[in-house]
Amino acid sequence: MSRIVLGVTGGVAAYKAVDLASRLRQQDHAVDVVLSRGAEAFVTPLSFSAVTGRRAYRDEDLWQPGESILHVELAHAADVILIAPATADFIARAAHGLADSLLGSLLLSATCPVIWAPAMESGMWQAAATRENVARLAAFGQRVLPPAEGHLASGRSGVGRLPEAGEILAAVEEALRTPQLTKVRVLVTAGPTREYLDPVRFLSNPSTGRMGIAVAEAARSFGAEVTLVLGPTELRAPAGIGVVGVTSAGEMFEAVRARLEQTDVLIATAAVSDLRPASHFDQKVKKSDLPNVVELERTQDILAYVGAHRRPGQILVGFAAETDDPEAEARRKLREKSCDLIVGNDVRRPDAGFGTATNVCTFVTAHGAWQVGPASKREIGEEIMAFVAQRLGR
Ligand SMILES: Cc1cc2nc3c(=O)[nH]c(=O)nc-3n(C[C@H](O)[C@H](O)[C@H](O)COP(=O)(O)O)c2cc1C
Repeated sequence: MSRIVLGVTGGVAAYKAVDLASRLRQQDHAVDVVLSRGAEAFVTPLSFSAVTGRRAYRDEDLWQPGESILHVELAHAADVILIAPATADFIARAAHGLADSLLGSLLLSATCPVIWAPAMESGMWQAAATRENVARLAAFGQRVLPPAEGHLASGRSGVGRLPEAGEILAAVEEALRTPQLTKVRVLVTAGPTREYLDPVRFLSNPSTGRMGIAVAEAARSFGAEVTLVLGPTELRAPAGIGVVGVTSAGEMFEAVRARLEQTDVLIATAAVSDLRPASHFDQKVKKSDLPNVVELERTQDILAYVGAHRRPGQILVGFAAETDDPEAEARRKLREKSCDLIVGNDVRRPDAGFGTATNVCTFVTAHGAWQVGPASKREIGEEIMAFVAQRLGR
């Protein structure tokens, strides 16, 4: 039996937390519910204690004298802390380490995984301050589930609904799982590369690095030691993942080659440019001097190099972004680059490929092919890590 702290904060979706608490209990978890001040305007501790069979705490309990210090006791006993729903207000306070409430104090005292299930109006979710606060929580190594899209309490529709209960419960179960890949060194490549013609012009592609960051996060959640070789992107990698920033395909190749010996698993998600301008100008070329034809040359094929130089036992996973028969292309790549798994994705689908939150993939191995998704990129990452764990006999 695991102990879960369910923090409930003051949003319309607070009523859904009663069902979450009940389902967590049905999964045999002991659930300590802690309501924020705002939450009590929407739900009562009584509803929660009725479904959890335990006392539910209110913010004012922080100040009650007792034999032990409540926030420290709850924090230390917790195996996972889940905040659902998480208001914009509480996210902001936690992102800045405020400890002026029972929930805020216990979050600061805790060392266990923390999962956030935000719910709010889309305007609040998209506000620059909330974006920044969510990024801070992610940088602390906490997991922020993306809110769902659909009908909102205001009558409008948009992004901001509490994520589906199934997704929240799956995130809790995942956080409770014993790490299967401790001491396994995973190297992930992600993002695009840029091949400069001069200091202001380059060849690149629309990759954002989102898939690779999700894979790196999934690998870390399996307990692996993760290094991310990341091309130019706006996205930040979360805490606990070593990041090597690169710009060009050549730099990415060198970064991978230098680490290959110390790598047990390589997952190549990066959209590496296949071509680069054959010559490079150190100064910006004047518009009037620009050639009509630019000679291109091939860049180093990272996956093929690794496939040819892999040591026994090393696991190699590649991605294939295709617009035409992804499975056939994945099969060809599996053979030619001697990979253990190729994840093919059709980048033309609206719910897959560059920059999307979700992906639809075909996993191809020497023994067969199966479809994964539509699913979040994180879930795809977890499927990959489950495959790796199985290969390593974990
Ligand atoms: C009717 C009503 C509904 C609200 N719904 C939300 C919501 O869904 N999400 C949110 O972030 N804030 C919502 N708020 C604002 C929060 O209740 C407010 O920021 C409060 O200070 C949050 O307190 P807490 O973070 O301590 O729970 C709502 C406020 C009202 C009055």
